[in-house]
Amino acid sequence: MSGAARRSWQRCDACGHEIDELASETRCPACSGLLEIVHARPVLRGDQLKQQFSAASATAQGAAGSGVWRFREIVLPTATAPVSWPEGNTPLLERAAVQQWAACPGLLLKHEGMNPTGSFKDRGMTVGVTQARRIGATAVACASTGNTSASLAAYAAHAGLPALVFVPSGGIALGKLAQSLAYGARTLLVRGDFDDCLRLVEEAQRELGVYLLNSINPFRLEGQKTIVLELLLQLGWQSPDWIAVPAGNLGNTAAFGKALREAKALGLISQVPRIAAVQAAGAAPFAAAFSGDFAVRHRVRAETVATAIKIGDPASWDRAVRAIRETNGVALAVSDAEILEAKAVIDASGVGCEPASAASVAGVRQLVSEGTIRPDERVVAVLTGHVLKDPGMLLRYHQEMDPPPARANRPIEIEADLRAVAGVLREW
Ligand code: F0G
Repeated sequence: MSGAARRSWQRCDACGHEIDELASETRCPACSGLLEIVHARPVLRGDQLKQQFSAASATAQGAAGSGVWRFREIVLPTATAPVSWPEGNTPLLERAAVQQWAACPGLLLKHEGMNPTGSFKDRGMTVGVTQARRIGATAVACASTGNTSASLAAYAAHAGLPALVFVPSGGIALGKLAQSLAYGARTLLVRGDFDDCLRLVEEAQRELGVYLLNSINPFRLEGQKTIVLELLLQLGWQSPDWIAVPAGNLGNTAAFGKALREAKALGLISQVPRIAAVQAAGAAPFAAAFSGDFAVRHRVRAETVATAIKIGDPASWDRAVRAIRETNGVALAVSDAEILEAKAVIDASGVGCEPASAASVAGVRQLVSEGTIRPDERVVAVLTGHVLKDPGMLLRYHQEMDPPPARANRPIEIEADLRAVAGVLREW
């Protein structure tokens, strides 16, 4: 490949083979390894680059108001017509009740549920669907535990591309399934789990020619890097000590590692935060491997209430290992009970999130209690999805009687008269 003027290209993580930015493969054609996007160094560095990022609007229409395309110099500099909602520009929140529960006074919440389809996936999807259009894809597809499919459905509709989504039948939250149908994706309920769906969609890509937009697609990760870039910008480029993120297929963990590596190299930050990748105990192959210094790749049959991260054989394994190693990070597992308790605390603080998202805060509490996170450290926990994603689980939690969960807020049915209301107030 002649390299003189190229801005971005794709390189295999495993064998180093390089392919053009506009090649349609989503795995290395030489060895089937995962690809990474490499960008030529932007002209600006350090403070000047920060100024360029800060100058972008958060209120303009389309891509000009996007919290992803604000960083286009290090996301996809050559894209001329982004398919943007716009997305990103999510809040960084401080809530005393959550800090107290986690025993972490320096805890902030980065709420990615405040994206257009209610999860962080929109940040990757705006880049992925933009790329699908650039390479002339005629149809796009993904396997999903529900959020990727909701996001793909919305962005494909925006781009005018047919979308095919593969989800585990009976295995995804109600709000997510509803979104996929509403936005018009052809929705396949696969009799199997997420890992079966991913295998199937990769076969469909090879045999049937659809463009794959799971997070093995490296363009997705370029967009997801902006979660980290944006929180750093919100903190005035003063790195927190830790970033905690729920981990399933490990796309985000990998994207965070890449974002931090690049931010350091470009002089945007001087200190690299440590990444804490938090899995659900019933779906924790990465946390198990971390305990053994990643000597072996683990696979499990996944089981957890947090259906978004119910994944037994994560695809972005090697690049997530690199992210943890390079940031002196950790991987850990929290139980479903801890996830549900963290979620109830986050919800009752008025913030709200979906079950998988609460794993990050449950993970922070565990790391504080075992002394890995010190009480004076600054931590950003990423809330990956919106509270309304999983209403079925929420109603079960708050109406459960056998036994009632400690933080349940049961609805009270009454006769339509004032005495009944007064009775409720007396017992309050
Ligand atoms: N949190 C939420 C709400 C998610 O939907 C996901 C992944 C994760 C965390 C984990 O992120 O896979 O990058 O480690 N959801 C994917 C999906 C698998 O299909 O929606 P990850």
